[in-house]
Amino acid sequence: MLAATVLASLVGSSLAFPFLSHWDSEALFRRADISSGCSSTGTESCTNTSAVADLCCFQAPGGLLLQTQFWDTSPPTGPSDSWTIHGLWPDHCDGSFDSTCDKSRAYKDFPSLLTAQGAKDTLDFMNTFWKDIKGKDEAFWEHEWSKHGTCMSTLDVKCLPSGSPKGAEAVIYFKTAVNLFKTLPTHDWLAAAGITPSSGTTHTRASLTDAIKANFGFTPALGCQGSTLNQISYYYHLKGSIIDGAFVAIDAPSAGNCPSSGIKYLTKAGSPAATTKTVGSTTATTATSTGATSTGATSTGATSTGPAAGIPTKATIHALRDGTQVGGLLSLGTWSTQTLATYTLSGTAQGFTLKTNKGSCGVSDGKFSCGNGVAASTFSAATSGGLTLLAFNGDTSFSSDKAASGSTQQIVSTGGGLATVFTLSIVST
Ligand SMILES: *[C@@H]1O[C@H](CO)[C@@H](O)[C@H](O)[C@H]1NC(C)=O
Repeated sequence: MLAATVLASLVGSSLAFPFLSHWDSEALFRRADISSGCSSTGTESCTNTSAVADLCCFQAPGGLLLQTQFWDTSPPTGPSDSWTIHGLWPDHCDGSFDSTCDKSRAYKDFPSLLTAQGAKDTLDFMNTFWKDIKGKDEAFWEHEWSKHGTCMSTLDVKCLPSGSPKGAEAVIYFKTAVNLFKTLPTHDWLAAAGITPSSGTTHTRASLTDAIKANFGFTPALGCQGSTLNQISYYYHLKGSIIDGAFVAIDAPSAGNCPSSGIKYLTKAGSPAATTKTVGSTTATTATSTGATSTGATSTGATSTGPAAGIPTKATIHALRDGTQVGGLLSLGTWSTQTLATYTLSGTAQGFTLKTNKGSCGVSDGKFSCGNGVAASTFSAATSGGLTLLAFNGDTSFSSDKAASGSTQQIVSTGGGLATVFTLSIVST
């Protein structure tokens, strides 16, 4: 079992690097020293019909995996002919997500850690392709690991073979994210459909998603800042463990937040021409499989990481369950399927207040309401699947005793503690 798993992982790597020399293959083999011991042919995450007990071999609750990518043009980051890595995120099956699940594993100094644990090649790749827009790459890696990686059940320390070095699960996180990214050459897939970065052309959302789907097999989620394309999310379920399981591509639960037409895909004008996506003697563009076996299709990325780029000043707030809208918020802050209220947002995506024609909105005793005399609370926005989600204390989960239906309204509680959990999407009016 152990040998077979290592071999599957090696085969995946070989496919991703068609020009690997024999020597490189041996080096890869030597490094593939951690096996989960899990089957990678069992139930896909988010498709189980009864509770699964062993969460070392079954990703839960974060069973909806997103490989998210950036196309940063202002300032440009990374090679001018490649998208860059944002992260690998374990969203819940309904699109909500946990954050920063284990502060005791907020490791630092990943260059040293990766090098010490034989993943220098992963580090080199990250230095080129996993870029922070402010140039703080290491801090960005720490953020992605701590916020998302520590929420992966299959990367819990107890799931690793005993005697694994400290931080080994974070090294696996970066290796897996990098391997998956190598199978998702967004720039080249768009270029194959004649869609190349330019300042003079605009695109429809359908032409962009169709170009990706023609290669990935599934629809991604696209993220825009205004009408400028800057993110993509590919979605997967997972069979087995993040360490060596099989990623199964699926359609993105939502199309993302780009407009349906008039989308700009700008050039990375300031990127040094010398920066190309070729790393060593291998390129990232021909990959068809990842270290963990990838079965096919694409999926899209939502940004569950970090704040949303921006927020509208006037919006309706939609409730989403399993990616489907079920009504939204009325002017007193209750959840209903009736005509939604207009909310006024003041502040930035990192911190803003909400009000309706009834008054300010706030959270008291874990309950959300708006009205005369309600003390305003500060909210933030996160992007996920291209949607802009309302968050309170960084948590995008909200819940009620029951789902709103007909004229029955429900009181909204922050967090996912009640029976019916949903997310709240901020939709500009
Ligand atoms: C799937 O398994 C997870 C983990 O045990 C559990 O939390 C979830 O409720 C299960 N889903 C269903 C539909 O039983």
